Amino acid sequence: MDTVTSVPPLCQLDDIPDGGATAVDALLSSGEESLILLRQGDQVRGYLNICPHTGRRLDYAPGKFLLKNDTLICAVHGATFNQGDGLCIAGPCRGEHLREVSVQVEGDAVHLTAGA
Ligand code: FES
Repeated sequence: MDTVTSVPPLCQLDDIPDGGATAVDALLSSGEESLILLRQGDQVRGYLNICPHTGRRLDYAPGKFLLKNDTLICAVHGATFNQGDGLCIAGPCRGEHLREVSVQVEGDAVHLTAGA
């Protein structure tokens, strides 16, 4: 009996610049959402592309994010988030977090972690 389901990947690892980010649409249990995918080498971290300040997207153009050192800056009002944990360290929603979405790299592709 085959219990393996085939879920298409979110994107290929090479679709994300190393040290950079992109946005993809994903079907989560809550519905379709835009995700931010941040890459460091073979590691990819995912967050909902929803700023805790007003609920708007953080990119200044689709899939284009302001990245500086290890932070991600919301293009709307400049809230600054740690890339590593999504904590807002400066700006209008300081102390709040981006919502992490669990993703994993399998081979050359980036997938949602099962149950995400
Ligand atoms: S919507 Fe992101 S800082 Fe205001």
